[in-house]
Amino acid sequence: MKFKNSYSVVISMLKKEIDKRAEIVNNAIKELLQIKEPEGLYLASMHLIKAGGKRLRPVISLLTSECLGKDYKKILPAIVSIEVIHNFTLIHDDIMDRDELRRGVPTVHRVYGEPVAILAGDTLFAEAFRLITMCDVKHENIIKAVSKLAEVCIKICEGQYLDISYEKRDYITEEEYLKMIELKTATLIACSSALPAILFGEDEKVFESLWKFGLYCGMGFQIHDDILDLIGKDIGKDWGSDLLKGKKTLIVIKAMEKDIELETFGKGKANTEKIKRDVEKLLECGAIEYARKKALEFVEKGKEYLKILPDSKPKQILIELADYLVTREK
Ligand code: IPE
Ligand code: IPE
Ligand code: MG
Ligand code: MG
Ligand code: MG
Repeated sequence: MKFKNSYSVVISMLKKEIDKRAEIVNNAIKELLQIKEPEGLYLASMHLIKAGGKRLRPVISLLTSECLGKDYKKILPAIVSIEVIHNFTLIHDDIMDRDELRRGVPTVHRVYGEPVAILAGDTLFAEAFRLITMCDVKHENIIKAVSKLAEVCIKICEGQYLDISYEKRDYITEEEYLKMIELKTATLIACSSALPAILFGEDEKVFESLWKFGLYCGMGFQIHDDILDLIGKDIGKDWGSDLLKGKKTLIVIKAMEKDIELETFGKGKANTEKIKRDVEKLLECGAIEYARKKALEFVEKGKEYLKILPDSKPKQILIELADYLVTREK
């Protein structure tokens, strides 16, 4: 008889907890977002949402609501709005990154063309703010939440701007990279974690701690995403896209410090063999290992901020989910 090791038992139990909550989000999406006229616009808007995705951001919001001992049903539209904002950023990100595959399906601009994809993203962006106003909590808290989400969207644009402008720069520092990923990715994860605290009118201290938890975990999450771009299997996205586009990831910054020459970097296209050779070099020189260590460090720092919450089952799941953000295979 074969015994599963303890790590795989923890992961399969965690996945069940995630799936249970992702199901709540998916049902709410079905109820709150419908295909209307003109159908072409709404089909494009819903293309990625329907293709799935891990739903990690709204699952984090559900878990922090549970940790606060609150009824998540009162804020479900806001929880959905986080996933809607995420999908808006993905549609536009795929145009910016010239990517063709996401969630295992062709990207929105590949199927519907760039003009419609831009509109689909814009539609979701506005939809998210309409959703937040539907929460069943005090109006003053809804206003605060709308303001926070708007602030986060501005930061995402700042981060995405830096990300694409760094493609053209020869070198960026680790510090510049970290600021860029904080803006483009970590702020939305921070918001997923802390938005329930705003909506339920929790103390500023609770909000701050949940924000920092999400922010540091989000930093680790993006570093891990950059690693998966190179060594992930069946991630449902274009393999090696960051290398080909000349993205200044932490891995590339480290490799540059070591004077490693990459054949495919910034080349736009390359054959599989060449990409494989570059990945091999990045593994050998320790750049990927360096990034992996950084990602783990960020998550460890993030988890410290959960100390403000009393121990509970959802808190334990949140801790395991934080680790999963930087160990996941997809
Ligand atoms: C992808 O996010 C975009 C990043 C910020 C790295 P996810 O990896 O959460 O994508 P989905 O939602 O599961 O498709
Ligand atoms: C994600 O960064 C940034 C967003 C805010 C959408 P990436 O460009 O690395 O995300 P993926 O790898 O395309 O999902
Ligand atoms: Mg991208
Ligand atoms: Mg990008
Ligand atoms: Mg990526």
